[in-house]
Amino acid sequence: KSFLYKLWKGDVSSKMLNPRLQKAMKDYLSTNKHGVRFKGKRNSKLTGDQLFCELKERVNVKTIDGKEAPFSTLGWEKHVPQIPLGKLYTHGFGSCAVVMSAGAILNSSLGDEIDSHDAVLRFNSAPTRGYEKDVGNKTTMRIINSQILTNPNHHFVDSSLYKDVVLVAWDPAPYSANLNVWYKKPDYNLFTPYVQHRRKNPTQPFYILHPKFIWQLWDIIQENTKEKIQPNPPSSGFIGILIMMSMCNEVHVYEYIPSVRQTDLCHYHELYYDAACTLGAYHPLLYEKLLVQRMNKGLQDDLYRKGKVILPGFKAVKC
Ligand code: C5P
Repeated sequence: KSFLYKLWKGDVSSKMLNPRLQKAMKDYLSTNKHGVRFKGKRNSKLTGDQLFCELKERVNVKTIDGKEAPFSTLGWEKHVPQIPLGKLYTHGFGSCAVVMSAGAILNSSLGDEIDSHDAVLRFNSAPTRGYEKDVGNKTTMRIINSQILTNPNHHFVDSSLYKDVVLVAWDPAPYSANLNVWYKKPDYNLFTPYVQHRRKNPTQPFYILHPKFIWQLWDIIQENTKEKIQPNPPSSGFIGILIMMSMCNEVHVYEYIPSVRQTDLCHYHELYYDAACTLGAYHPLLYEKLLVQRMNKGLQDDLYRKGKVILPGFKAVKC
């Protein structure tokens, strides 16, 4: 049976990846750039429902609120939005779409379905203009990594992609989640452009995720995986799925687990081919996807044809 078929059944391991990706994973394990020291147990025995409840119980979407050092001494309570992310939408959303940037979404004609959701989450520099038929045109929230804020090619200050949406930024911090160490040596210095953007656009909701939240997700992925996963933060996609699970009654995730349209085309909007974008090299992406597959409540046929997974929101299910 093909790799894709096995992925749909949740029955794959890293040994089935191409040698280049396996080598990359091994190198990340030995480098351990972020100083990960995992103290928990590795286990993959939870059912999808148990895993959902574990996430519901433990995941706490946390953003930098300016109350902890060094941000407190730097006056960040004035810089961050007055309304926290969790209180922006007091009643939450009904159904939400998480639109992955994978090349496989091309020719999907999913645009109308995606736009019919109450809220739509997109990632980084993924555009809608010119791709409406496949990805829709509504954007409620955008998750951006620190390279978007710091790499001039992305035109973070001027581009319309980053206007009129809720922005949530993140940067790989040390596993210790020591904010002083992180502030002095972020992966990419997102702090300066963040404060500048907040000053210029004080009414736009714009948050930075707390490293504790990111690494809490990593711990849960590792605890529920037999193999040693890459000691690097989960992908923006996984982070986004969890944020939407905390804000929506139902989350429809598009082209995270690839459909029959699976391709090495990294992004639908860019002519660049690399299987790592879908299966992971730096991010523990394959393992994230296996957890999401385990929790899928949608139809198997929607997975094959649309690359769609349906997950309940945290409020929607009693544990
Ligand atoms: O590449 P980027 O991080 O901007 O893409 C957003 C998210 O979409 C990724 O973090 C990943 O979770 C997902 N993705 C994917 N397969 C791809 C490209 C992106 O699953 N080929």
